[in-house]
Amino acid sequence: MKHLMSPLDFTVEELDKLLDLANDIEKNPSKYAHACEGKKLATTFYEPSTRTRLSFEAAMLNLGGNILGFSNAASSSAAKGESVADTIRMISCYADICAMRHPKEGAPLVAALNSSIPVINAGDGGHQHPTQTLTDLLTIRSLKGRLDNLKIGLCGDLKFGRTVHSLINALIRYPNISFVLISPDELQIPSYIREDILGKNNISFEEVVRLEDAITDLDILYMTRVQRERFFNEEDYIRMKDFYILDKPKMNLAKEDMLVLHPLPRVNEISVEVDNDPRAVYFEQVQYGVYVRMALILTLLEVQVC
Ligand code: CP
Repeated sequence: MKHLMSPLDFTVEELDKLLDLANDIEKNPSKYAHACEGKKLATTFYEPSTRTRLSFEAAMLNLGGNILGFSNAASSSAAKGESVADTIRMISCYADICAMRHPKEGAPLVAALNSSIPVINAGDGGHQHPTQTLTDLLTIRSLKGRLDNLKIGLCGDLKFGRTVHSLINALIRYPNISFVLISPDELQIPSYIREDILGKNNISFEEVVRLEDAITDLDILYMTRVQRERFFNEEDYIRMKDFYILDKPKMNLAKEDMLVLHPLPRVNEISVEVDNDPRAVYFEQVQYGVYVRMALILTLLEVQVC
């Protein structure tokens, strides 16, 4: 049985196959409309979510399956002290596959180790968010036509941003990828990523503070939110929250074919005036998130559609 904890759980060949399946789902949705009839997806979300939970649920419903679950820890028996290990043993009796979001790093792994059904990490603390990465890869490959030969700017909260950590892990396996890490000093990428992942794999990267200094030669600009929920004190959050605002004057400095992605939710870091720029693809990215989660459910449940 396969679980998904990190994008590295799939080889590059397996990822390509998954993305091909997602593209086929996009082109022929009716072909997959009954693929998961009789199957159930449990969404166990101990932390708030709009996109990840609802896109998983939409994905399973699009496949003809059913859904059950909880959307916050307070409405589950976690509020009475039940452990993740015990909870997943229950869920294994009710569902065929489970997507779990948890504020603690490693909680979905604990679930996977105690589960008799596939478990998908739907975001664990500041650690990993592999299904957002699958969404990002599908968006880039579909709209840019490639996952290699790209200069990618990652901007915002690179310290706590699990989407950024997962995306770096996934992209370094493709040829000629380079990164520009754009963050205030306080929110720089963790040293284990700088040294053990980028450094040891000889990946080209630079670190800058000002977005204006980086934007001109990027192929992809990946914006992220400064995450209030990861700060220990409100003062630090308030000081950092409007550090980056992508607006029309900054977009005017960028290449004509640069794409702007964002895992969302956005707060202030992208001005709404940018939404109508054809290079802003963060709402298309949301739609790709449904296709790729459909492909993931089919893959982990080993459902073949002819
Ligand atoms: N991108 C993302 O994980 O959004 P949600 O927190 O709304 O699920």
